[in-house]
Amino acid sequence: MMTKRFIVTGGAGFIGSALVRHLVRDLEATVLVVDKLTYAGVPESLKEVGLDPAADIQSEVAALDFTAPRRLFFLKADICDVERMSAAFAAFHPDAVFHLAAESHVDRSIDGPGEFIRTNVTGTANLLQAALGYWRTLSADAQEAFRFQHISTDEVYGTLGETGFFTEKTPYSPHSPYSASKAASDHLVRAWADTYGLPTLITNCSNNYGPYHFPEKLIPLIILNCLDGKPLPVYGKGANVRDWLYVDDHVAALCLVNEKGAPGETYNVGGHNERTNLEVVQTVCRILDELRPRPDGSKYESLIAFVADRPGHDLRYAIDPTKLMTELGWKPARTFDTGIRETVQWYLDNDWWWRPIHEQKYAGQRLGTIKRN
Ligand code: NAD
Ligand code: TYD
Repeated sequence: MMTKRFIVTGGAGFIGSALVRHLVRDLEATVLVVDKLTYAGVPESLKEVGLDPAADIQSEVAALDFTAPRRLFFLKADICDVERMSAAFAAFHPDAVFHLAAESHVDRSIDGPGEFIRTNVTGTANLLQAALGYWRTLSADAQEAFRFQHISTDEVYGTLGETGFFTEKTPYSPHSPYSASKAASDHLVRAWADTYGLPTLITNCSNNYGPYHFPEKLIPLIILNCLDGKPLPVYGKGANVRDWLYVDDHVAALCLVNEKGAPGETYNVGGHNERTNLEVVQTVCRILDELRPRPDGSKYESLIAFVADRPGHDLRYAIDPTKLMTELGWKPARTFDTGIRETVQWYLDNDWWWRPIHEQKYAGQRLGTIKRN
C-alpha cells in the first residue's frame, strides 16, 4: 500500500471490521474508524486488533489523541454530521477513505426505507463534502495521492435472468430501497469526481460471507437457526441465485483497488461462486451434520421451511470480475466450498461474539414481508 492513514466508515460492521483488521494487523496502517454503532455495528469485531470497546470509543474528535502510539482509533459518529466529519478529516489527516458505512439489509429497507435514504444517500453526500473540503487543503502531491473509495454492491445493476454477468458497463436498474439508495450513492461519488475533481474509486461487489457477519443475513441466520433447532426460512422456492465471495477476498480487492486503481474508475468484485439459495442452505446443513451432528440423529435439512417470497426479489446476481483480474491482478484465495466450511466452523467456535447479538439485538425473526396490493 502506498497510503498509510485511513478513515474507514462503517468499520464496526461486517466488511468494515474485516478491512480494519487487515489494515491494522497485516499492513500496519493507522486507522480511524468512523461508525455510528447502529444495531449492525459491533465494536467487539475489532477486539482482535486491540480495540477495547469500553475504553477506546469516543464521540468527540477532540477526545481522540492522534499523537498516541497506537494504530486504531474509534470515533462514534454519524456520517450525516458534516461538521464532525470535517473535524475528523482535519485532525486525523488521512491519505484515503474507505467508505462502508451504510444501512445494508434489503429486508429492513422494505420495512423502513427512510434510514436507507438518510445514511446511504444523504450520508454519502455529506461525507463527500467533508472529504472535498479537506482535500482542497492538501498540497498538489497529496491531492493527487488522496483517494475516496466508495464500497458498493452489485445490486445496483438489478437482476439477471438465467444467463449473463454484470460488468462495469451494465446499466443501473435497482429494485429494492436498499439497492436504489446504493445506486444513488454511486452516482453522487461519480458526480464529486467529475465536478470537483475529487479522486474517487468505486467497487461493486457481490454477496459477502464469512466471520463476524450479522445474523440477519442468509448464511449466519441459517447457521444459528440450525444450532437453535429452529426452521430454516427459504424465501420462495430457494431458486434465487447469489454470487458468494469470502469477505477477506473482498478486503484484498479493496486494498488492491486503493493502491492501484485509476481515479474515477469502477471495479466489479466477484469470484464466480454462484449458488441457488437452496444450495447454500443445504451446504450449511451438510457441514453441520458433520461438525455438530444433531443429538436425535436427524439431518439439519429436515428444518428447511419454504416461506413467502421477498417482495421484488431479484432472481440472480453474477459478477464478471475480468477488469479487476486483468488490470489489477486480483484473484480470490477461496472457493465457496472452502470458505463456507471455515465460516461454519468460525460460528461454532465463537459464540462469545454472536450470542449477545442473538439475545439482545436480533433473534432471527422474519423481516421485510410488507403486503403489496
Ligand atoms: P453492515 O450492516 O454489517 O455494517 C454497516 C456499518 O455501518 C455498521 O457498523 C453501522 O453501525 C455503520 N453505520 C450505519 N449507518 C451509519 C451512519 N449513519 N454513520 C456512521 N456509521 C453508520 O454492512 P456490511 O455488510 O459490512 O456492508 C458494508 C458496505 O459494503 C455497505 O456499504 C454495503 O452496501 C456494501 N456491500 C455489502 C455487501 C455484503 O454482502 N454485505 C456486498 C457488497 C457491498
Ligand atoms: P441476504 O443475505 O439478505 O442478502 P441479499 O438480499 O443482499 O442478497 O439474502 C441472500 C438471499 O437469501 C436472497 O436471495 C434472499 C434469501 N434469503 C432467504 O431465502 N431466507 C432468509 O432468511 C434470508 C435472510 C434471505
